[in-house]
Amino acid sequence: MNYRHIYHAGNFADVVKHAVLTLVIERLKLKDAPFRVIDTHAGIGGYDLGSEEAQKTGEWRTGIGRLIGPDAEPLPAPAAALLAPYLDVVRALNPPGEIVRYPGSPRLARALLRPQDRLIANELHPQDAVSLRGAFARDKLTQVMELDGWVALKAQLPPKERRGVILVDPPFEAPGEHDRLVEALAEGARRFATGIYLLWYPIKDVAQIRAFKRRLAATALPKLMCLELMVREPHDPRQLNGSGLVILNPPYELDAALAVLMPVLADRLAIEGSGRWSQEWLTGK
Ligand SMILES: C[S@@+](CC[C@H](N)C(=O)[O-])C[C@H]1O[C@@H](n2cnc3c(N)ncnc32)[C@H](O)[C@@H]1O
Repeated sequence: MNYRHIYHAGNFADVVKHAVLTLVIERLKLKDAPFRVIDTHAGIGGYDLGSEEAQKTGEWRTGIGRLIGPDAEPLPAPAAALLAPYLDVVRALNPPGEIVRYPGSPRLARALLRPQDRLIANELHPQDAVSLRGAFARDKLTQVMELDGWVALKAQLPPKERRGVILVDPPFEAPGEHDRLVEALAEGARRFATGIYLLWYPIKDVAQIRAFKRRLAATALPKLMCLELMVREPHDPRQLNGSGLVILNPPYELDAALAVLMPVLADRLAIEGSGRWSQEWLTGK
């Protein structure tokens, strides 16, 4: 396990993933019934963008740095309203008008929970698991587990609330991670069919992504879609050209929110040329 998220925290892929996670959680909150967030590959929860690692790549500058901070243009009002719960969490960690810290998915999810909701954050890297435990020490709503995220998908489903969102965000450092995602989704859905699943994937080689989507469609799980954002044309399959989210059971009207938000993100987060986004239903709505 060599992957360290600090090099990538707050990049364009984090922004899309965290913006969509927030939209999903905000929709779950429309009902009083409690829900659970299960983060299978949680990271450490908070990242110092001034650290040597984050400064080395500077990836956050073309991510969260394009939405808030000293160099960011104001967002159009409808997109700003949809992003407000997410960006408010980021702003709360930072001095006014600056961006020096970025929340990871567990910190973001936790900030959005109500007293009746729960978070389980799994992190297998021993050092990161210690940091994560420290970040949530004495927090009654959050349980931190030093557990393999793929095992968590079996052991932690279904949640007792029978409502919730499962974020699966592996590092993609081992070969076969795409196949593993497909298997994990099928396994998760067998245990908790009504859960909302968000599975993150990098887009480097587009042929590989086409094959991945064919395997996803072959699961025949209903209500399965892919949301993608390309930040450059995918001429070089060694580069991170874009990122995607597989979404199973997207909440009602998520598409309407994405139709407002994604064109703005595609425009803001483009790295070379113009960005583009797409939403594709792999199986029926
Ligand atoms: C992409 S990062 C997670 C970022 C985080 N979800 C966020 O959005 O802020 C992937 C994390 O998974 C951890 N990891 C790697 N293999 C794992 C496994 N089998 N089970 C759980 N965590 C794992 C890595 O140490 C790393 O912190």
